[in-house]
Amino acid sequence: MKNSLFLDILSGKECSRPAVWYMRQAGRVLPSYNALKEKYTFKQMMEDPKLAAKVTLLPINDIGVDAAILFSDILVIPEALGMDLDFENKGPRFKTALKDVANPMQFLKDQPEKLDHVFAAIQEIIKTKEEHIPLIGFCGGPLTTLCYMFQGFSQNQNFPDFVPYLFKDKKLINSIVERMTDMCIYYIDGQIKAGIQAFQLFETHAGLIPVDLYNELFMPSVKRIFKFVRERSIKGIFLPKGLGIGLNKINQDVCDAISIDWQTPLTEARKLVGNDIIIQGNFDPRALLADKKGIEEEFQKCLEFGRNDKKYIFNLGHGLLPNIDVENVKHLTKLVKESDWS
Ligand code: CP3
Repeated sequence: MKNSLFLDILSGKECSRPAVWYMRQAGRVLPSYNALKEKYTFKQMMEDPKLAAKVTLLPINDIGVDAAILFSDILVIPEALGMDLDFENKGPRFKTALKDVANPMQFLKDQPEKLDHVFAAIQEIIKTKEEHIPLIGFCGGPLTTLCYMFQGFSQNQNFPDFVPYLFKDKKLINSIVERMTDMCIYYIDGQIKAGIQAFQLFETHAGLIPVDLYNELFMPSVKRIFKFVRERSIKGIFLPKGLGIGLNKINQDVCDAISIDWQTPLTEARKLVGNDIIIQGNFDPRALLADKKGIEEEFQKCLEFGRNDKKYIFNLGHGLLPNIDVENVKHLTKLVKESDWS
């Protein structure tokens, strides 16, 4: 493979600027994506390898990012555990949620063949992408995925019927997390064999519960996943949104890179995670709803950090929002690529 800035930085090489990519870069912020959405549903695009490959690569030309992320969703894992899922306009919703079944472990049925379309999409992306653009594969974090499986859908980012289980039935939670992690490992193995070149674990709801409880119930799964990924020489990025002070338990022994949310200043995050791990983040996507001057002002914080700290990948604190003007995303990308980072 030709030189890739993104992979070089992940490998600890000092580069002249940070690599840049965005969570949710292949989505509704792109006019080209919205045009496809007139013809196909999200599920159709995700499940057709040719379409999924096409959508994955849209932001490379449309925005100018340095890496592609697989166009899929974290909720394919519960689907592969036998749960029926609908993507409605309001967001994904399971037909039957685990909170409503008597015996969740019996209710779940392994159907790994439901992941085959993802492996086919990855092979298609590898065939069609430019060589120097690396492909990031991903999987949902155990807590975030369980939130949806138990509650069935997100109630404004809340999962009120699920969280009490974490206090009242840890044995059940441990068994389900282990079952899910087995499927994730199978899934990641398939992604690696199909050709992904880096891996990100999206733990969007890490901030939902006390840090100690997160470490007790979910970190063993996170560690197992990253151990598997790194043993296969693939770099692993962890995104634990809202983990806060819990970052003090994350270092290069767990993963290669840590994606920081917008709440935590990058300089503070660096103190918590130590000097060796790569930091990714943490531009607030809502700043992209401002004008160019507002965007440039917010960008200064990242620029200052990146001038002093070369173990840095530019990204957002969370995903792009659908109502952001793509011109602002292009402007931000240009700022990253054309600023003097020395
Ligand atoms: O980042 C990327 O561009 C890659 C593709 C990707 C999607 N979902 C596509 C998608 C990734 C990495 C995800 C991860 C994901 N999915 C997470 C974790 C990260 C995060 O954003 O918090 C979660 C919690 C989900 C579950 C999910 N999928 C929700 C809550 C929704 C609806 C809300 C929303 O953001 O649209 C989805 C649908 C979804 N997943 C869309 C896309 C492009 C929108 C589909 C559409 O166009 O209608």
